[in-house]
Amino acid sequence: MPERNGGTAICPGSYDPVTMGHIDIITRASRVFDNVLVGVVNQPVRKAKTLFDAEERVAFIEEQVAELGNVQVKPFGTLLVDFAREHGATAIVKGLRAISDFEYEFEMNQLNRKLAPEIESVYLMAAPEFSFLSSSGIKELATFGGDVTGLVPDRVSARLQEELKR
Ligand code: PNS
Repeated sequence: MPERNGGTAICPGSYDPVTMGHIDIITRASRVFDNVLVGVVNQPVRKAKTLFDAEERVAFIEEQVAELGNVQVKPFGTLLVDFAREHGATAIVKGLRAISDFEYEFEMNQLNRKLAPEIESVYLMAAPEFSFLSSSGIKELATFGGDVTGLVPDRVSARLQEELKR
């Protein structure tokens, strides 16, 4: 096992719901940093009301990361940088898929850098098998009865069926 670089990293997101792409990023971050804290935003400001409440979104992730040993999951309702400072984090880790993610992430990066220059944002490229995957795409697929097996944890898949299937 290679040595980790130390410190705590935050993996923030809405995770409504978590996908296997998110789990891949969290798992890879857990190999680089001593500790990873997955921050689940209570209610995203720029998005519509979430399908799953924060408690359930946290539980979905906890089940997937239980065996990693250095990953914790917590909801937050503050500025991301305040949440990071509160937990002594030195980095924010985000996944990047296509170019289309860049503009939004670039803006977030600049805002967060302005607010907390001591916290570095780090970007992990999505694995090719997950580069098309998004929570909103998953919800749309599930709404029309599409098969989401392998794209989200099984429990998420079952809950999507209950909540969305028309
Ligand atoms: O999965 P998402 O929806 O892309 O995650 C967005 C998230 C949670 C990273 C972002 O909304 C966030 O950081 N929210 C907390 C409030 C905040 O600090 N906003 C950015 C600086 S103004």
